[in-house]
Amino acid sequence: MTVLVVGGGGREHAICHFLKKSPKVRKLICAPGNGGIADIAECAPVKATDIEGMLALAKEKHVDFVMVAPDDPLAGGMVDAFEEAGLPAFGPRKSAAILESSKVFSKALMQKYNIPTARYEAFDDMEKALAYIQGKETPIVIKADGLALGKGVIIAQTTEEARAAVYEMMQDKRFGDSGSRVVIEEYMTGPEVTVLCFTDGKTIVPMPSSRDHKRVYDNDEGPNTGGMGAFCPSPDYTPEVAEICMETIFLPTINAMKAEGRTFKGVLYFGLMLTPDGPRVIEYNARFGDPETQPVLSLLDTDIFDIFDAVVNEKLGDIDIKWKSGAACCVVLASGGYPNQYQTGYPIEGLDSMKNDVMVFHAGTRKNNGGYFTSGGRVLGVTAVAGDLKTAVSKAYSVSGQIYFKDMQYRKDIGKGV
Ligand code: AMP
Ligand code: GLY
Repeated sequence: MTVLVVGGGGREHAICHFLKKSPKVRKLICAPGNGGIADIAECAPVKATDIEGMLALAKEKHVDFVMVAPDDPLAGGMVDAFEEAGLPAFGPRKSAAILESSKVFSKALMQKYNIPTARYEAFDDMEKALAYIQGKETPIVIKADGLALGKGVIIAQTTEEARAAVYEMMQDKRFGDSGSRVVIEEYMTGPEVTVLCFTDGKTIVPMPSSRDHKRVYDNDEGPNTGGMGAFCPSPDYTPEVAEICMETIFLPTINAMKAEGRTFKGVLYFGLMLTPDGPRVIEYNARFGDPETQPVLSLLDTDIFDIFDAVVNEKLGDIDIKWKSGAACCVVLASGGYPNQYQTGYPIEGLDSMKNDVMVFHAGTRKNNGGYFTSGGRVLGVTAVAGDLKTAVSKAYSVSGQIYFKDMQYRKDIGKGV
């Protein structure tokens, strides 16, 4: 089989790494890819959102199977386009990817089907949004409706901050059209956990739980990022919690989507908060998370291509997905200044990737004359597997300490104090 992976971050490097192990994958192509992916796959310079370009690439390279990883091509209908062209493609169709691309949609779905989440109101009128905030308890949470690189959520500590957030989204258009509608919701408390699930629309199979670290600095300080590190599994996600989530959240979600005529196939990402009143949904994503995928897939003990194939063919119930015991930790090495402005083009030293059960997944890198250079905000995801979390964390940090590029920054507390 010739398999095309769409995307070019750390998540896609991990997906390519594990696809490469499948005896069924003869040839791997990734577009646009990155410096690390270039070592294991043929990279093609097609933008992840370029549907026509991707179709042409697939045709030219005689691709047999496509895996669409990022949110924006999914929301734009890339899977639909491949299906129409007769090519099997992994990922939700546009009608189902809306679960991530519109918070107004996902909140209304949860309300309609009694799926536990924060109480909310949605607004497309700024004056009404401002009036609603008045007199509401704080903290209060303001969310842009559409995709905003994981940054469209503001936890306002005061009414003034909440008003400012509404102005910023609805008047100043900080997130473009994504903020023309907003969701204003109740502030929840409790440990956060991510559960990625494979689903073919009928069967849903959770992967081991994980925890992302969204803030840029230690102790969850500083602005939100795409994710500065993750570990797996989360000790907060006990078998009892898992059972409650399956009954009250996972199955009801795929059944709701089916009932709405929007059958969801692919990976469904549940961002959960374990509140004193039980698990509740913070957000859905319509894809593998980044960086959660790097540690989670590191524990997979089944051919990943077989799983993708079963999802596409709606035969997920027929396969037995196995996971290694133990734990995994991914530390993201980022450019100085990220998530705000940062410089790129710096040489990366000390890279000894894919050795000794520590995998260095590349995100913002490019390869030039045999060397690797920084090309993005999140540069590398150093991912270690071990029998227990403490050992995985210490291995990931030991390798991170050997890598260097100018102005490199990373959190020192991923997976610690758990
Ligand atoms: P999201 O992009 O929806 O995952 O939100 C980003 C982060 O904001 C989450 O990981 C939570 O830490 C926080 N968050 C979002 N919604 C809420 C809420 N209703 N209550 C408390 N924290 C929230
Ligand atoms: N790590 C969060 C996300 O992928 O959206």
